[in-house]
Amino acid sequence: MQQVSEVVNSWNEWDPLEEIVVGSADGANFEPTEPGNRPQIRNAPPGTPFPSGPKSAEAVDRANEELAGLVSLLESEGVRVRRPAPHDFSQPVRTPDFEAANQYCAVCPRDVMITIGNEIIEAPMSRRSRYFEYQPYRELVYEYWNADPRVVWTTAPKPSMADKMYRDGFWDWPLAERHERMHSFEFCVTQDEVVFDAADMSRFGRDIVVQESMTTNRAGITWLKRHLEPKGFRIRPVHFPLDFFPSHIDCTFVPLRPGLVLTNPDRPLREGEEKLFESNGWELVAAPEPTTGNNEMPEFCQSSKWLSMNVLSIGPNKVICEQQEKPLQELLYALDFEVFPIPFRNVFEYGGSLHCATWDVRRTGAGEDYFP
Ligand code: NVA
Repeated sequence: MQQVSEVVNSWNEWDPLEEIVVGSADGANFEPTEPGNRPQIRNAPPGTPFPSGPKSAEAVDRANEELAGLVSLLESEGVRVRRPAPHDFSQPVRTPDFEAANQYCAVCPRDVMITIGNEIIEAPMSRRSRYFEYQPYRELVYEYWNADPRVVWTTAPKPSMADKMYRDGFWDWPLAERHERMHSFEFCVTQDEVVFDAADMSRFGRDIVVQESMTTNRAGITWLKRHLEPKGFRIRPVHFPLDFFPSHIDCTFVPLRPGLVLTNPDRPLREGEEKLFESNGWELVAAPEPTTGNNEMPEFCQSSKWLSMNVLSIGPNKVICEQQEKPLQELLYALDFEVFPIPFRNVFEYGGSLHCATWDVRRTGAGEDYFP
């Protein structure tokens, strides 16, 4: 296995947290419509245009206030908190293969950055507007990389994001076609190029669980296998066949400590995939119904009500949870967790909650084998 570094060292989602990056809403823009994304205003009549350009100062301030609350809580728990560098997300993206009107934001470092042991991987990403989203984290990456020769830094190959990388018509597929294709895990990106977002992975020590989704294709999973398995990791692809628009695993399958995964009752694992966990003594515990229905989520939020289960573990028995999610908090108390409820709903319109809005760089502990 990899060496343990005193600077970059995080092998799973639950070990005691030492250093973390918390996102920022500064400069955030609305996500543009593009082949990999068709944002929609919630509950608006079909065809209503989605806003473009910078988010309002009020929306940015509201989110930043809650992100600052998370920073204070983490610091009071002895965690070192870092923040992304300022970035002008209103700039267009232009490469030889495509143009996007603007970029998105640095609210969700989880989507693009991942620590696997002593290695930082910058994900290739799946959407044009997020092509350069690694940039607000580069100063930090250089700092970590310069601080310890054991730190490994990898940028995964960038896909072209040209028109041919996407499935024309995906967003307009009639329900029957969508149903048929989602069972073969064919979504808006083709299988021709390496595509993955970091947030489709969940770290279980030696085992990295990866969701096949709209934002991670089979070529992406193959790249991860060839890159990480020679280093002693095992890539475990998982599928959630009832999720019509799967993207990012951390509202679907959330490990909380060794032997315990919080699962999404609307999105069971593909039949047979639970065996790996159950035969190794892991318990899969269904999250309770979120306190907000899908229709009541913020109007610009493109994620589901299951942001409720997007919790952040700061130790094997300590979980930060959204303040209004009392049923989940009750479950966590019953499972012997110390729960830290904080308000975070104003971050939802940026697509994530507590796990998405962070990127853990260092946790105490080493790479264990939980699936011997
Ligand atoms: N695609 C997920 C959100 C992941 C942060 C969902 O909508 O549930």
